[in-house]
Amino acid sequence: MITASDKLNRELKERLERLAVCDRDYWSFKGNSRREHGHGFFQYPAMMVPQMARAILAEVCAVHPETKWVFDPFAGSGTILTESMLMGLSFAGCDINPLAILLCRTKAGPFFHKALADKVHSLLDRIKTDMDSQIEIDFAGRDKWFRNDVQIALSKIRRAIKYETTIWARRFFWIALAETVRVTSNSRTSTFKLHTRPSFEIATRSLDPIEQFQRVVERNLEHLKTQSEYLNSNGYLNRGHYTKNIELSLGDTRKLESSDGKRFDIVITSPPYGDNVTTVPYGQYSYLPLQWIDPSDIDSNDITEYLRSTHEIDYRSLGGSQRISEDDTSFLSERSQSFCRLLKQLSAEPPDRLKKVTAFFRDLNRCIVPILEKLRAGGLMFWTLGNRRVAGKSIPLDAILTEMLEHEGAVLLTRLKRRIPSKRMAIRNNIAETMRAETILVMRKAM
Ligand SMILES: C[S@@+](CC[C@H](N)C(=O)[O-])C[C@H]1O[C@@H](n2cnc3c(N)ncnc32)[C@H](O)[C@@H]1O
Repeated sequence: MITASDKLNRELKERLERLAVCDRDYWSFKGNSRREHGHGFFQYPAMMVPQMARAILAEVCAVHPETKWVFDPFAGSGTILTESMLMGLSFAGCDINPLAILLCRTKAGPFFHKALADKVHSLLDRIKTDMDSQIEIDFAGRDKWFRNDVQIALSKIRRAIKYETTIWARRFFWIALAETVRVTSNSRTSTFKLHTRPSFEIATRSLDPIEQFQRVVERNLEHLKTQSEYLNSNGYLNRGHYTKNIELSLGDTRKLESSDGKRFDIVITSPPYGDNVTTVPYGQYSYLPLQWIDPSDIDSNDITEYLRSTHEIDYRSLGGSQRISEDDTSFLSERSQSFCRLLKQLSAEPPDRLKKVTAFFRDLNRCIVPILEKLRAGGLMFWTLGNRRVAGKSIPLDAILTEMLEHEGAVLLTRLKRRIPSKRMAIRNNIAETMRAETILVMRKAM
């Protein structure tokens, strides 16, 4: 007997697969990955292509018009957040990186672009008339990572932002400052890791942080204006505030709270593809910008512990702690045949490599039950995943995660393939090689 949910599964699968019938590369969004609206605020590593999230949401809402809540347990820069807002949906997101949560909070609004334009004007005025050369921040490595003239300029920007009285405007300015720090620090921008430039280059680089900040803040203001006009014309704003719900939390997805009984309709996410240190070190990447931002504007909880060292956020992320036990290995092996096969393939490799791979899958698996508990019965999941290589062998993240989710009763509807035309990955890295393809797993939680 064909049930109502079989019909819906078939319809969704057909709709998603049909998109790639005429254009094999549909899901790659080659030449069509422009980042407008809040998407363009900041260059966060491994951001999802907005057009892909948009296509997924459009198909889900066509099959399930009752969809209200979208959940991203690895929210990052908030691509899914912005796309959910553009469709008038409520959104919940979590991330372990304070910079990611600040980005999401900024992107959530409010959208007072006219008032913000005035504030930008006075802020730039304050910065340009500030003759003080006092440095506003101190941390180990400050002089290694920033030239003195850059520290003085960034301090002027920081003082001016702190002078602003509204938190929504300060957050908007902090993001522009974060982007300015990223390009004016002594760390190379060709890698996500902290990596100093040669001293000759540091001494001779022509840098104007204030001009850079002005460019970013004016560009971001344009993005905010475009988004605010779009939201307004669709009736999703009331006096500049988004009319649906947005819930954001700084924290570990392994420890999500489910006691509030809230259930979301759909999960769209892209988790890390391996431990941060060997794949994308989101924490290292965020470390310098976070030094310049007032932590109390990011979260009401104290975040100083996150900045204890350049490695702290990465250590707290999936696969960050490599203390594993035999039990971890057998627990995962019971859940995934593909994981068992991988262990055999890697058995001749140094134990450290095996530990890193196992620790990552142990932590990813620890997220599954908390995520499923947040999803309504029969809710849909879209996981964008890449299979990186370790010791020349492909790590089948897509197959392992499918099996781990199936172990908890979820059902695989389809796998969509996409090529990555120009994704910035950790290139100078002999463990994680550049990935050329990704899979979108489409699964449904058991009824
Ligand atoms: C691939 S990125 C997500 C990118 C996002 N889709 C975007 O478009 O910006 C993965 C995210 O997972 C986060 N992460 C890693 N471990 C985590 C954990 N244990 N709990 C919550 N978030 C975690 C990282 O900080 C990173 O922002």
